[in-house]
Amino acid sequence: MNEYDSEYLRRLLLRSGWEQAESMVDADLIMVNTCTVRKKPEIKALSLIGRLCQLKKKNQNLKIGLMGCLAEHKGEEIFSRYPGVNFVIGPGSLSEISRVIQENNLNKRFLAKGIKSIPCLPPVDVREKKVTAFVSIMQGCNNYCSYCVVPYVRGPERSRNYREIIAEIELLVEEGVKEITLLGQNVNSYLWNDSIMVRFPDLLRMISGVDGLKRIRFTTSHPKDLTDELISCFKDIPILCNHIHLPFQAGSNRILSEMGRSYTREHYLNLVGKLREACPDISITTDVMVGFPGETEKDFQDTLDLMERVQFDMAFSFKYSDREGTRAYHMTNKVPEEEKIRRLSVLQELQKNITLEKNRKMVGKVFEVLVEGKSKDGLLWMGRTTNNKIVNFRCDHSPEGDFLNVKITEALNNSLRGEAV
Ligand code: 5AD
Ligand code: SF4
Repeated sequence: MNEYDSEYLRRLLLRSGWEQAESMVDADLIMVNTCTVRKKPEIKALSLIGRLCQLKKKNQNLKIGLMGCLAEHKGEEIFSRYPGVNFVIGPGSLSEISRVIQENNLNKRFLAKGIKSIPCLPPVDVREKKVTAFVSIMQGCNNYCSYCVVPYVRGPERSRNYREIIAEIELLVEEGVKEITLLGQNVNSYLWNDSIMVRFPDLLRMISGVDGLKRIRFTTSHPKDLTDELISCFKDIPILCNHIHLPFQAGSNRILSEMGRSYTREHYLNLVGKLREACPDISITTDVMVGFPGETEKDFQDTLDLMERVQFDMAFSFKYSDREGTRAYHMTNKVPEEEKIRRLSVLQELQKNITLEKNRKMVGKVFEVLVEGKSKDGLLWMGRTTNNKIVNFRCDHSPEGDFLNVKITEALNNSLRGEAV
């Protein structure tokens, strides 16, 4: 979501005559987009803001803005603690900055919070070579998982009008985009209801009809809302990529219930079975947490057991982090930090081996990748398979934006190596 919001702001600024600075020291406006889901990113953002305020001593024109969930959560406190911060804009108030930029009135300090509207990407004037893009289809969340701050900072679920979504995708395709990722905290519960009722599977089918669009992805899905109809989309929609991100969070039914997740491990395993039946080579990735309050060694073993059974392609794994305002914050049976660290490292070691094993099975085979650009080190090309694996490969011409067949030659922990064939 944050990437989409950053892109929105970037386009807005470009359209208003701003240019992208090469580095922070050259900039006259720096917006810090923040996340507050866990404590660590919050601390990092605050320390960056402190350092940026120092830059003002060298550049009197510099304006500093704070956006994202931290702005919504602790905006007032930060605004008064850091006089160098010029704007604080919560994610539901991004349209406010558009007004201020258009009026060219950046000299006044302001703070905007609350849920107003979902931004809509303005077109870029400069033609940019971008192959993939994010499109927000809904914002907010109604699930109130007991550990999570998102419903408080992003507000209740609001779906975007499907016509606006399709128009935005058509615009992106016109700009050269071939793959889009639909974004939302819980895309499965997308619902637009005016003259017709459009649910998420309907939206996917509509989007698959956009001329020139080659790939669709979406994230994030909640296991309680993953319907059979949505699962069958993986079979029926040719341009829907073979990948799903399906957070399971914990493998113990007792902890899942304490988390307020509304499903059991049996339900989750059943979903995985159905997904693999509909799409045998689908890759499944997940989010998982260790050390939720009251998590015993047995609960933790249940989490490991679920991971062994599912064999995820990749997992984002976290230590439970106390977030003020959530129900879990008030739970008394917290797991000691050292124990959380131990459990996380055991879990990550297990997943590392599973991911590597899965990647090794791809070696020697040929996969189609969409080439996004140069690899991180700039020496190779980087593309993604439909099942969302990153492939860095050699190629003797410039294949950016093309679909290429690549033979996998080596499996690494987080990526694959290959040769264009
Ligand atoms: N502590 C640790 N991890 C969290 N997540 C959300 N809230 C917390 C928290 N309080 C994780 C979940 C979610 C991902 C985006 O962040 O796994 O799926
Ligand atoms: Fe947070 Fe749960 Fe909503 Fe995901 S579904 S954003 S974890 S409250």
